[in-house]
Amino acid sequence: MASNKSLLMLPGDGIGPEVCQEVRKVLDWMDKRRAVSFDVKEGLVGGAAYDAHKTAITDETMQDAMDADAVLFGAVGGPQYDNLGWDVRPEAGLLRLRKEMDLFANLRPAVTFDALLDASTLKQEVIQGLDIMIIRELTAGVYFGEPRGMQTLPDGTERCIDTQSYTKAEIERVTEVAFDLARKRGSKVHSVEKANVMKTGVFWRQTVSELHKSGKYDDIELHHMYADNCGMQLVRNPKQFDVIVTDNLFGDMLSDVAAMLTGSLGMLPSASLGAVDEFGRRKALYEPVHGSAPDIAGQGMANPLAMLLSFAMTLRYSFDLQEDADLLEQAAQAVLSRGIRTGDIMAAGAEKVSTAQMGDAVCEELDKRA
Ligand code: NAI
Ligand code: MG
Repeated sequence: MASNKSLLMLPGDGIGPEVCQEVRKVLDWMDKRRAVSFDVKEGLVGGAAYDAHKTAITDETMQDAMDADAVLFGAVGGPQYDNLGWDVRPEAGLLRLRKEMDLFANLRPAVTFDALLDASTLKQEVIQGLDIMIIRELTAGVYFGEPRGMQTLPDGTERCIDTQSYTKAEIERVTEVAFDLARKRGSKVHSVEKANVMKTGVFWRQTVSELHKSGKYDDIELHHMYADNCGMQLVRNPKQFDVIVTDNLFGDMLSDVAAMLTGSLGMLPSASLGAVDEFGRRKALYEPVHGSAPDIAGQGMANPLAMLLSFAMTLRYSFDLQEDADLLEQAAQAVLSRGIRTGDIMAAGAEKVSTAQMGDAVCEELDKRA
């Protein structure tokens, strides 16, 4: 049956294909039990694409990504590719996708799982029930600003420069994503910069304030916070936050801090969103935060929950299937509550399962809920 929901799956390397296989099970389940079907296409990326075509992503696969409603990305990389040239390295595939799809808003949720509270280094009362969303600007800022690189001054002094740079439009579009998202959550946004010491911080704050006052976002509660304070507050009292929006550099650090409030790398999903195109679709790529984990690849040990939760984000943000997204997230919570664990989140008294068994357990829980 033809469907208007197209998905491009790019499993990649290492545990990427293993965790993507578990998404296939959920796709089958949705088709059978929820009568929701997708046109799924699969492609090569990273080392897998290099092995076949001597490039980290072919032009054809790139075009498939541009045409798809959403891209599901596993992970890329591995020691056998570490000495390849810069432009054919596995990471180049992901960077090209991000660049050509113009994925400027990186969404990283930090949600605690009741069954995993004891895995956190923080007190239970600080993190229980935590549900925050960090939105990091992904395509501008100091990682891309010009000029950059080494310089030699007239007196022979060597120095190196990176440039923090943001246009008004770059700040506005990521802030709009934050305001729109907050509206579907707790209606509160913290905009984070260093307006006390950085000119770009002053401009960021001013631009966000103007957009907030435009009349379109009167229902959103906006706070401004300095990035260093935000780091402290995330560890001290993270539940004060709902949505945090920040630049590329601060977002890189703060999203990793927030991630570790909730536990293991094997549990963390992400989404990267682009602009709405002429067909009214928002380009989007969903991927677990973890890499290809060569140390456990091929052994059926990987935790597929980060990938499955990334697929839940796909359902929520690309297909507006809120109920199905809720079901999948609830199924993951339920499996953990039953004490079913992959090695990375193993606890005393729990049942250790393989990647495939974890995927099966999630589908069982879905069955109970459909
Ligand atoms: P990694 O995330 O692959 O692994 C770090 C540690 O966490 C390893 O011990 C691994 O076994 C464990 N781990 C990660 N995901 C897991 C899961 N789902 N279940 C159970 N355990 C899990 O990061 P690492 O080791 O720094 O990089 C390995 C390769 O992955 C490198 O080639 C790196 O470049 C690449 N990488 C790719 C990313 C991507 O595709 N977006 C992101 C990060 C790294
Ligand atoms: Mg990081």
